[in-house]
Amino acid sequence: AARDPSLKRNPAFARLTPADIAHFQSILPSASAVLYADGAAVTQDDLLPYNMDWMRKYRGQSSLVLRPSTTDQVSKILKYCHARGLAVVPQGGNTGLVGGSVPVFDEIVLNLANMNKIRSFDAVSGVITVDAGCILEVVDDHLRTFGHMMPLDLGAKGSCQIGGNLATNAGGLRVLRYGSLRGSVLGVEAVLPNGDVLDTLVPLRKDNTGLDLKQLMIGAEGTLGVITAASILAPVRPNATHVAVVAVPDYAGVQAAFLNARTMLGETLSAFEFWDSAACQLVDEHLSHVRHPLESQQPGAFNVLVETAGADAEHNMAKLDAYLEKLMDEGVAVDGAVAQDQAQALAIWAVREGIPEACSKAGAVFKYDVSVPVPDLYELVEATRTRLAELKVPGVLSVIGYGHVGDGNLHLNVAAEDYTKQVTNALEPFVYEWVASKRGSISAEHGLGLMKPKHLHYSKTKQAIDLMQQIKKVVDPKGIMNPYKYLPEPEH
Ligand code: FAD
Ligand code: MLT
Ligand code: ZN
Repeated sequence: AARDPSLKRNPAFARLTPADIAHFQSILPSASAVLYADGAAVTQDDLLPYNMDWMRKYRGQSSLVLRPSTTDQVSKILKYCHARGLAVVPQGGNTGLVGGSVPVFDEIVLNLANMNKIRSFDAVSGVITVDAGCILEVVDDHLRTFGHMMPLDLGAKGSCQIGGNLATNAGGLRVLRYGSLRGSVLGVEAVLPNGDVLDTLVPLRKDNTGLDLKQLMIGAEGTLGVITAASILAPVRPNATHVAVVAVPDYAGVQAAFLNARTMLGETLSAFEFWDSAACQLVDEHLSHVRHPLESQQPGAFNVLVETAGADAEHNMAKLDAYLEKLMDEGVAVDGAVAQDQAQALAIWAVREGIPEACSKAGAVFKYDVSVPVPDLYELVEATRTRLAELKVPGVLSVIGYGHVGDGNLHLNVAAEDYTKQVTNALEPFVYEWVASKRGSISAEHGLGLMKPKHLHYSKTKQAIDLMQQIKKVVDPKGIMNPYKYLPEPEH
């Protein structure tokens, strides 16, 4: 983990004093809610899980972690930080992939894990209201008992939190079916940088009364305030879900499989994912508990995962069988299998969801999360392989492509021996320029964090960036919320 040397601590931010610690202890009386590395009871090593990100790529030096359990406590903390000029990083499950969830220098970590109450669920409207620190999988399991589900799902579901999901506008595995998370959020409760509580927690589907301020908080990655609760529209859980995995010989086959899925599976299609043979190989090598359901894994081939969900099990299974048969008959697919039970379905998902973990076990991972039109998507992986080979970049272990192809979202991952400048310089701005040439997005779903502010111009115009900076200035005039991230420094 190495910090960009051009990044300097903002001297306008105050440094912690013993009086600050005493004040935070008065707001948070529970001993475990104030973790201060004084070198005695708590050491800097104890705070490493809060200072280092999931990829072990970004590492801050905070000596203070605050773990409030109520909105009122968050409000008091921010009011104080605002008055004192203390910088703050909101932190959920710390599964973010762009360095947004950990401090850069000594910013205070405001960890939401103790705000974990499910506030209410109304089965008639299907609206669930939860504290921001609730873990996604816990909320989904709760909804299961009522025959409902969360409209989003992702590999990090066991640790990521609803607040983190909203703050990053997380995409994941079901965007194809349920759309962007933004559309499923009915209300947000957030604490603004000055401590004011912005309560938009209305459980309404329709509400055209002025600017939709909750949308400002969604996808703001903690730069405009702390999300403390959300009301989310939870769809009815389909009672019949089926999963198939298909092997196709090339990327044209992935597209043909997708087109066929849309026409033949129609409204029952609930996920369409893909991964290449290099990704398969990493899963085989690094995840001993995951076995690929298809025997033949030709180099250069691709796998697609197709999921359907609906009310009628027999009807859906017949549709999926017919789909697979057509792909095999027409030579689109070279192999395929439909899961016969829940265990087999989970085994297929385990391959797909295991790719990020397998990649990070392989080494240091350079992650690029882009969206471009589906026909061009995989060209980026090939172009990157060619470039790294031509430049003979040392330490590169594997270049893999996978992702939410149904949403036009590619994950290009380069596993390397270490996070070196040589690999970074070979990939950046090359990847961003390639994406910009297709008018694509340099961040489809993971956000900007610490990784991408200076590259934002590849996807957004100057006017758009200026307006974002003006909004930031109005909401957070002292810039205490998640500094150094998300937006480039304004030009003066
Ligand atoms: P954190 O990582 O803690 O924080 C993320 C950002 O949100 C930070 O900027 C942080 O400051 C801010 N934040 C967190 N909580 C709050 C809050 N309450 N209020 C304000 N700001 C807050 N992402 C996808 O989009 N799709 C995927 O398919 C996907 N799969 C993943 C799979 C794995 C294995 C992993 C490790 C990550 C994956 N991600 C995926 C990344 C994704 O961004 C996170 O998993 C998730 O949305 C972040 O939630 P979190 O609680 O861990 O947030
Ligand atoms: C995924 O789709 O698996 C996630 O976005 C995580 C990742 O890209 O590593
Ligand atoms: Zn993803």
